[in-house]
Amino acid sequence: MQTETMNYIIRPLALEDEPFLWEMLYQAIHVPEGQTTLPREVVQIPELARYVQGWGREGDCGFLGSNTLTHQPIGAVWLRLPIGKYKGYGYVDDDTPELSIAVYPEYRAQGLGTQLLTCLFASEWGRSPISLSVSVDNPAVRLYERFGFEVVNRNDGSLTMKSPKTPPSQAAEQ
Ligand SMILES: CC(C)(COP(=O)(O)OP(=O)(O)OC[C@H]1O[C@@H](n2cnc3c(N)ncnc32)[C@H](O)[C@@H]1OP(=O)(O)O)[C@@H](O)C(=O)NCCC(=O)NCCS
Repeated sequence: MQTETMNYIIRPLALEDEPFLWEMLYQAIHVPEGQTTLPREVVQIPELARYVQGWGREGDCGFLGSNTLTHQPIGAVWLRLPIGKYKGYGYVDDDTPELSIAVYPEYRAQGLGTQLLTCLFASEWGRSPISLSVSVDNPAVRLYERFGFEVVNRNDGSLTMKSPKTPPSQAAEQ
């Protein structure tokens, strides 16, 4: 079984990862404690499907983390530019890609999310601002703050956050 010291294999996302991204999209839905989980079909509603549907468009990018031992994919972070009439929940402007991230429940709080974001910000894709939407009560807010994301809007229990102009990886070098 996995331990806190487990290492991960992290690689850039490819076109053929779309099925796994649908799975991660479902896993990314924040269900507050005590509330029942949503049916899997929920990811087909246009406001959610827009984060994955037709994966491979210009600007689509990100990283996938796998279990070193089993090679099973267990988490992913991805970016997508706002397209069409369904602006994402974290929409800031047409040029700012929106971030999605998820890790399977049994692998959470063991460092993979941090590693995925570290890879993203060390890559060319992390050099320009990125936005996201997160529920105010989601513990992931702390993770985003550690990477320098700041709240730029609040709406009905959701926060829109934006990454700093200087990516965390570069800020650390200064
Ligand atoms: C958010 C998430 C991708 C982070 O990945 P991770 O591997 O658990 O993260 P790490 O172990 O590197 O970092 C730990 C941080 O992740 C966040 N985190 C940990 N468990 C979490 C959980 N069950 N739900 C949400 N965030 C969680 C916290 O910010 C935690 O920091 P803390 O220790 O200061 O509380 C992952 O927990 C997850 O998939 N959560 C559910 C989906 C989700 O909330 N996605 C984000 C939607 S905006």
